[in-house]
Amino acid sequence: DCLIFRSLNEAARQELAGRAYFKRFASKEPIFQMGSPGQSMMAIASGVVRITAPTESGREIILADLPAGEVFGEVAMLDGKERSAAATALTNCELLVLERRDVVALIRHDPDAALRLLELLCARLRRSEERMTEIAFLEVPARLARTLIRAAAEAAERSRVQPVKLSLAQGELARMIGSSRENVNRCLKEWQRHGLIDLKDGWLLVLDPQGLEAHAHR
Ligand code: CMP
Repeated sequence: DCLIFRSLNEAARQELAGRAYFKRFASKEPIFQMGSPGQSMMAIASGVVRITAPTESGREIILADLPAGEVFGEVAMLDGKERSAAATALTNCELLVLERRDVVALIRHDPDAALRLLELLCARLRRSEERMTEIAFLEVPARLARTLIRAAAEAAERSRVQPVKLSLAQGELARMIGSSRENVNRCLKEWQRHGLIDLKDGWLLVLDPQGLEAHAHR
């Protein structure tokens, strides 16, 4: 059940699903590199896919962790240029691969499907815009607070266990907000002292989302 399929009528859905094929990736396995050619897009049937981009300084920035139901690889598939970021399986993943020719055929005879794909691109654009503005205008604590609030909200959608437990290492958080592990650690330690979060057995527990919210707007 993913965005691109949801809008389709049964016939179109069958048609596209009939042409798509599954591909499995093991945890940590690369799916594609940034800059490689790409003629297909992928819908995530199960697992989590991490989208990253290397930076000039040889580090990488984590652009998104996409859960099941999300689609990626649509940019190169549509514009015929190289992949704009790298994709890696963060867990074992099952991907439904859609080839350009099949998606183009679908777009040609189903304007609703084309609209759905545009909505997907717009959602991505909005998110990138938001992230870029955050990195440009907010200090590290506010960026970190927003990232934790977002991750906690996504985790809460998947499981109702309270408090929300995140399996994000401090280095990962740093790569999500474009900062250093040291800065992230300093911030988390302070929030731990104030009871907003807890760090236990490699987990990050979000104890007080409202308290974090106050830091998100500083
Ligand atoms: P594509 O350029 O084909 O390959 C990399 C994919 O990563 C890209 O398509 C998008 O699907 C996805 N992607 C690129 N940038 C972002 C971002 N900022 N947030 C989420 N996904 C992205």
